[in-house]
Amino acid sequence: MEIRNISDALGAEITGLDLAKPLTDADKDEIKAGFLDRSVLVFRGQGLTPPQQLAVARLFGKVVPYPFLEGLEDCPEVIEILTRPSDSINFGGGWHTDTPYLETPSLGSLLYAKDLPPKGGDTLFSNMYMAYDALDTDTKELLDGRCALHSSSKRYVQPADRSKIYGAMKRKKQKEAKVNSDTLHPVFRTHPETGRKALYLSYLHTVGVEGMAEKEADALLRRLYEHQANKAFICRVQWRPGTLVIWDNRCVLHNALFDYAGYTRRMHRVTIEGDRPI
Ligand code: SIN
Repeated sequence: MEIRNISDALGAEITGLDLAKPLTDADKDEIKAGFLDRSVLVFRGQGLTPPQQLAVARLFGKVVPYPFLEGLEDCPEVIEILTRPSDSINFGGGWHTDTPYLETPSLGSLLYAKDLPPKGGDTLFSNMYMAYDALDTDTKELLDGRCALHSSSKRYVQPADRSKIYGAMKRKKQKEAKVNSDTLHPVFRTHPETGRKALYLSYLHTVGVEGMAEKEADALLRRLYEHQANKAFICRVQWRPGTLVIWDNRCVLHNALFDYAGYTRRMHRVTIEGDRPI
């Protein structure tokens, strides 16, 4: 197996490893260490069935269903993320971490490329340890010990008609989609494995800051969203057939670019359960 960094900020590409075959303990240890060190791992040249993708996910933790979408019929923990040629909006477009509106948000997600547009459809990742480290002292003091409020239905970044985001994807019936719509988590969370602090705000979901008036919070959040998207913190993954990516939702944001209107993009995603942020 070969591991090569894909940007200064985060991300590593792994080649020479077939994830469909049993892994040695040494391989597993190297993958887990690489995940904690680089936060985004890109495995090239894989040929994975949904159960094989699940088996890879289980190296990192317990797999949980995604609250809003039905999974594949024969493998319900895997959801299909689909953009059709007729869609005018994509799922996951905009900087975010997965499921911060849950009391125990996702540890990480694994995305596997099934059908790709002829060009475009890359995913960006941003390193939230670096975003925290680079904050000025006043902002750190202002937000230290405070929580932000996260919602699964942040109206002003999402069209009222949510079906546009989900397109042809299979949505769960409202009463099956069990979520807390408003959940508080520390703005600066400490990664449970590395012990490092990360800036935990999610443009697609964060709706307020505890103990702060709406206007003040909005202005601050706007400034911090811009900060989170600083080029110095980012890596860009260009998908190829057979690419599997795993990212750490505890310290990384991602943003699925939509620059391939008129084409299909189909991916399989698995979500890993995380801890309550502290
Ligand atoms: C997501 O937010 O999980 C989707 C990412 C992508 O499609 O690249």
